[in-house]
Amino acid sequence: MHLLRPFVLSVLLFVILHAPPPSAATDTLRPGHALAGRDKLVSANGKFALGFFQLQTGSSSSNISYLGIWLDKVPVLTPVWTANRDNPVSNSTSPELIISGDGNMVVSAQGNTIWSTRANTTTNDTVAVLLGNGNLVLRSSSNSSLTFWESFDYPTDTQLPGVKIGWNKVTGLNRRLVSRKNSIDLSSGMYSSRLDHDGVARMLWNSSAVYWSSTWNGRFFGSVPEMSAGSPNANFTFVNNDQELYFTYNIFDESIITLTTLDVSGQNQVRVWTGQDWMAVDNQPAHQCDVYAVCGPFTVCTSSADPYCSCMKGFSVRSPADWEIEDRTGGCIRNTPLNCGADDGNKTGMADKFYSMPGIRLPQNGKIMPNASSTKECAQVCLSNCSCTAYSYGKDGCSIWHDELLNVATDGNEEMIYLRLAAKELESGKGNRSAMIIGVAVGTSIAVLVFILLMVIWRRNGKWSRPIVDNDQGSVGIIAFKYVDLQDATKKFSEKLGAGGFGSVFKGCLSDSIAIAVKRLDGARQGEKQFRAEVNSIGVIQHVNLVKLIGFCCEGDRRLLVYEHMPNGSLDSHLFQSYGTILDWNMRYQIALGVARGLGYLHHGCRDCIIHCDIKPQNILLDASFVPKIADFGMAKLLGREFSRVVTTMRGTVGYLAPEWISGTPITPKIDVYSYGMVLLEIVSGKRNCIEHSSGHTEGQGDYLPVQVAHKLLHGDILSIVDANLAWRREHRGS
Ligand SMILES: *[C@@H]1O[C@H](CO)[C@@H](O)[C@H](O)[C@H]1NC(C)=O
Ligand SMILES: *[C@@H]1O[C@H](CO)[C@@H](O)[C@H](O)[C@H]1NC(C)=O
Ligand SMILES: *[C@@H]1O[C@H](CO)[C@@H](O)[C@H](O)[C@H]1NC(C)=O
Ligand SMILES: *[C@@H]1O[C@H](CO)[C@@H](O)[C@H](O)[C@H]1NC(C)=O
Ligand SMILES: *[C@@H]1O[C@H](CO)[C@@H](O)[C@H](O)[C@H]1NC(C)=O
Ligand SMILES: *[C@@H]1O[C@H](CO)[C@@H](O)[C@H](O)[C@H]1NC(C)=O
Ligand SMILES: *[C@@H]1O[C@H](CO)[C@@H](O)[C@H](O)[C@H]1NC(C)=O
Ligand SMILES: *[C@@H]1O[C@H](CO)[C@@H](O)[C@H](O)[C@H]1NC(C)=O
Ligand SMILES: *[C@@H]1O[C@H](CO)[C@@H](O)[C@H](O)[C@H]1NC(C)=O
Ligand SMILES: *[C@@H]1O[C@H](CO)[C@@H](O)[C@H](O)[C@H]1NC(C)=O
Repeated sequence: MHLLRPFVLSVLLFVILHAPPPSAATDTLRPGHALAGRDKLVSANGKFALGFFQLQTGSSSSNISYLGIWLDKVPVLTPVWTANRDNPVSNSTSPELIISGDGNMVVSAQGNTIWSTRANTTTNDTVAVLLGNGNLVLRSSSNSSLTFWESFDYPTDTQLPGVKIGWNKVTGLNRRLVSRKNSIDLSSGMYSSRLDHDGVARMLWNSSAVYWSSTWNGRFFGSVPEMSAGSPNANFTFVNNDQELYFTYNIFDESIITLTTLDVSGQNQVRVWTGQDWMAVDNQPAHQCDVYAVCGPFTVCTSSADPYCSCMKGFSVRSPADWEIEDRTGGCIRNTPLNCGADDGNKTGMADKFYSMPGIRLPQNGKIMPNASSTKECAQVCLSNCSCTAYSYGKDGCSIWHDELLNVATDGNEEMIYLRLAAKELESGKGNRSAMIIGVAVGTSIAVLVFILLMVIWRRNGKWSRPIVDNDQGSVGIIAFKYVDLQDATKKFSEKLGAGGFGSVFKGCLSDSIAIAVKRLDGARQGEKQFRAEVNSIGVIQHVNLVKLIGFCCEGDRRLLVYEHMPNGSLDSHLFQSYGTILDWNMRYQIALGVARGLGYLHHGCRDCIIHCDIKPQNILLDASFVPKIADFGMAKLLGREFSRVVTTMRGTVGYLAPEWISGTPITPKIDVYSYGMVLLEIVSGKRNCIEHSSGHTEGQGDYLPVQVAHKLLHGDILSIVDANLAWRREHRGS
């Protein structure tokens, strides 16, 4: 599963605005005036500001000044456009922005021109105006429709609503996005996103390697089916005529703050300001490891891991400082040089060895060696050339790689590669292993001792078979479990019921043979006090159609939740999987009603309205008599900021999220209603609302259920939507 890195969030947390002092805000810079220091222009609607800013990383402030536009109402500095991203200027030189004698905007510092609009102005009465949509325009003061230059023509890494990505065919102007270099430097990085003359949108690494592409099919980009549903708050426009070829979007609701940014991670992110934080609601490509060279050479990428980049065996991060600020182009370097020349003659055992890496996606640009007909020969071919760094022997025979290995990933791949390493690397590996065995042996015996001690203590206290209850948390009947008890109850977490974005769920059994489901939270980084408070507030939410929270565990950084166990599993397994029960119409109807009641309670029945944010069949559990119960509510409270990471994560795989997420509407209970509608379609049709794309490259709308249903409705063919399993049963009963 794809996990969105908390890039944006972490970056923005570190980057804090040098709050400019309030000044008489104006949106216009006139000849004879200069913008310097903390002066700023503010658009008439107050949304955007233009001025000089410095990024701040940790406690130290950068000495680099940028002229740029940021969102003035958002308390974390969010630059949306930068004039001099590739021409940094030291703040100590006191740069200023003026309108020069020829009517252009110029940034100068100590007599040097740092940046200029270089437009062909035909009048000398120009002014610079920051418009309400974030566009900085240079125009005639006497005729406001005479525009000589606009920042929307030179986007940096962000496409604001209204910015056209693509070509002006008359002037040859090409507007594209280029990611920033790293999290503390706005200069141009390795990734770009553009619309080509063939009408295909592409994302590229180093302007050469395409890692994502999508075609406009008349209404939306084929690989982003979420766009097909449209949105009451946004529209998408694609134009291809004699003059222009571009893509743009518009947001109608002024209260929505949303951005589309080509992130430093190479993903195109749609972000929404939630009032406290930026939340990424869409990522393309959906899987982080599908971004070309995202971790650099000699690394392994795992989309679901955090961090998702790691070095291959025998390699170390080339530049930890750059790695830290998300610039991983340097990748990893070899710890021990290859022995190379000595491979053939030296019999002292120092020849290079191979280290096998199973379950990976092979790197690009392998050379097929048709002459090697076995793994051994393939290895020999590789050893015979000094620049060969790896080989693989699979269904295509022998392949070898020279020099850098790029794009090795672990996500759902089954290939095996043999990595060439100096013999010394593999020997020291053995040394480590024996050390580890000793460690484990010592650890185990200590554990046994502790266990025996604990048993003695427990027996003496008479608490042997009962969960130990913290008395300070007894108020709402939520039990505070000890971790060891949950370990016991779940037989050391051996029976896994499922895994989701928040963590894994294990089956367990309390002493009095009450079956429980224990959820081990991965992302909760809250302090103990807050976690307990949130657990209590979730504990009071009780309804026949909501899964009941029985207790929790909070020890050190462990966070677990204990729920009643639902013997009939999730709705998902009955609707889509062959081994589930085929639910008849009455059951389906009762399930649909029950889920609606549960949701209604969450939205209106509780003291604080709770938005679930992730309604889908996997989160609807069925008890022994198939009464539906909604699971996983209140996770936003428990996980805080981590929640947006996890929810966004799921987005990559399922299509239950309402279209306003992509257009950036603030989240309301309506998003649950939308997801519920999707679930209803699935209950009726017995089909998944969208097939998970394995590669993210699939085009077309054919398999997107809502689109199919809409077509059938238009053609009056409603019955063919209905689950074929039930139709079959009806016929057989009738005959
Ligand atoms: C940058 O310059 C402005 C005005 O000259 C000053 O107010 C600000 O403190 C400076 N910032 C840094 C980090 O030097
Ligand atoms: C910022 O400071 C660093 C060292 O403190 C220096 O190397 C760098 O050149 C400075 N950058 C500018 C634009 O002055
Ligand atoms: C300005 O005019 C010159 C000469 O006519 C032309 O070469 C140049 O491309 C123009 N620049 C812009 C930005 O239009
Ligand atoms: C603008 O041009 C006019 C003549 O074309 C000239 O009289 C005037 O002084 C100029 N103004 C500025 C500010 O350069
Ligand atoms: C203002 O500029 C536009 C565009 O160049 C032009 O069509 C229009 O006639 C001008 N209006 C005046 C009053 O000069
Ligand atoms: C990027 O491309 C340029 C020219 O195509 C090449 O010189 C450069 O080495 C490439 N950069 C990397 C990191 O491969
Ligand atoms: C989208 O909305 C904008 C602004 O209201 C409008 O100008 C444009 O024509 C609309 N595009 C489409 C395709 O409806
Ligand atoms: C063979 O390996 C040994 C190290 O064990 C080294 O001292 C020797 O120089 C090597 N011989 C050749 C020909 O490289
Ligand atoms: C493969 O073998 C053939 C014949 O045995 C030989 O002609 C050819 O050069 C070999 N190719 C390579 C790449 O070794
Ligand atoms: C090793 O492989 C590289 C890349 O294919 C090639 O350029 C080089 O000539 C080879 N060296 C030898 C000794 O075969």
